[in-house]
Amino acid sequence: MTDTPAKPVLLTGASGGLGRVLAKSLTEAGWTLRMTDIVPFPDAMPARASFTKADLNDGPTILRLAEGCGAIVHLGGVSTEHPFETILGPNIRGVFHVYEAARRERARVIFASSNHAIGFHERVESIGADTQFLPDGFYGLSKAYGELMGRLYWFKHGVESVAIRIGSSFPEPINARMLATWLSYGDLSRLVQRCVVTPKVGCTVIWGASANSAMTWWRDDARGALGWAPQDSADPFAGQLGAKVSDDPIEERYMGGGFCSIDYSRGAPAPRGLFED
Ligand SMILES: NC(=O)c1ccc[n+]([C@@H]2O[C@H](COP(=O)([O-])OP(=O)(O)OC[C@H]3O[C@@H](n4cnc5c(N)ncnc54)[C@H](O)[C@@H]3O)[C@@H](O)[C@H]2O)c1
Repeated sequence: MTDTPAKPVLLTGASGGLGRVLAKSLTEAGWTLRMTDIVPFPDAMPARASFTKADLNDGPTILRLAEGCGAIVHLGGVSTEHPFETILGPNIRGVFHVYEAARRERARVIFASSNHAIGFHERVESIGADTQFLPDGFYGLSKAYGELMGRLYWFKHGVESVAIRIGSSFPEPINARMLATWLSYGDLSRLVQRCVVTPKVGCTVIWGASANSAMTWWRDDARGALGWAPQDSADPFAGQLGAKVSDDPIEERYMGGGFCSIDYSRGAPAPRGLFED
C-alpha cells in the first residue's frame, strides 16, 4: 500500500536504533534515502541509500545534504537525559539546521519528538496532543523546543511538519510502563511512511504508541487524517511484565517514568496545576 516519494528523503540519526530500523524498512519499500549520522552506518548499505558522516552542529553540511530532498526524517541527536551543555548542540542548534534546510528545500520535516516533552503529566490523566508541554528534563525540553520550532516554521514559512511523540520504540516492551508506551518498529515505520506521503499534513503532533490497552494517557491526534492506525500491541506481554514496576513513587506517578526521577530535588510531588503550592 506504500507510495514512494518522488524525491529522496534525508534520514538523520541513521546509525541509531530507530535509524537502522527505518533505513531497512523504507528502502525495502523502494524509497531513496540520503542518510547521515555523526557515527558510521553500522549495517550493509541498503539499495537506493547513501550515507554521509556529519555533525548536526554543522549547518552548511546539513543544508547541502538536504538539497533536492522532499522530506527530512529527523531522528538524530542526544536521545536520553544529559546535562544541558551536551544537549544544546545536537538537539537545539541541530533542529534549527534541519528546519532551515527544510525551508530552503520546501521540504517536510518528520521530527522524532518524545513523551519526555510531556513527561510530568500524571499517568492518571488523559491528555490530547494539544496538551501543555511539561518536560521532565533537558532532553524533554529540547524535544518541546523542536516541536515549537516546527510551529514557527509552519506559521512563518509554511514548512509542514509532523512531530511524533514517541513512547518507547524497542524490539519488545520490557517493563510495566511500556505496556502503555511501547511503539513497535512496524507501527513506527508505517507511521513515518504516512507522514511523508500524505499529501497535506500541516503542522501536527502524533502520539507514538502501538494499540496497547494500557495506553489510557494519550488521545486526540491527527492520525485519521494521516491514514495511520497502529496494528501491533504490547498486550501479549501483560502477563510477564504487569508486575515489573519500580519502587520509586516519582517514576511510577508520571508519564515520563524514570526520566522524571533524574536529579529530582523537589521533595513532595508537584500539584497537578502549575501555580498551586
Ligand atoms: N527509541 C525510543 O523509544 C525513542 C523514544 C522517544 C524519542 N525517541 C527519539 O527518536 C530518535 C531516535 O531514537 P533512537 O532510539 O534511535 O536513539 P539513538 O541514540 O540510538 O540514535 C540517535 C542517533 O543520533 C546520532 N547523533 C547524536 N548526536 C549527533 C550529532 N551531533 N550529529 C549527528 N548525529 C548525532 C547518534 O550517533 C545516534 O546514532 C531520537 O531523536 C530520540 O530522541 C526515541
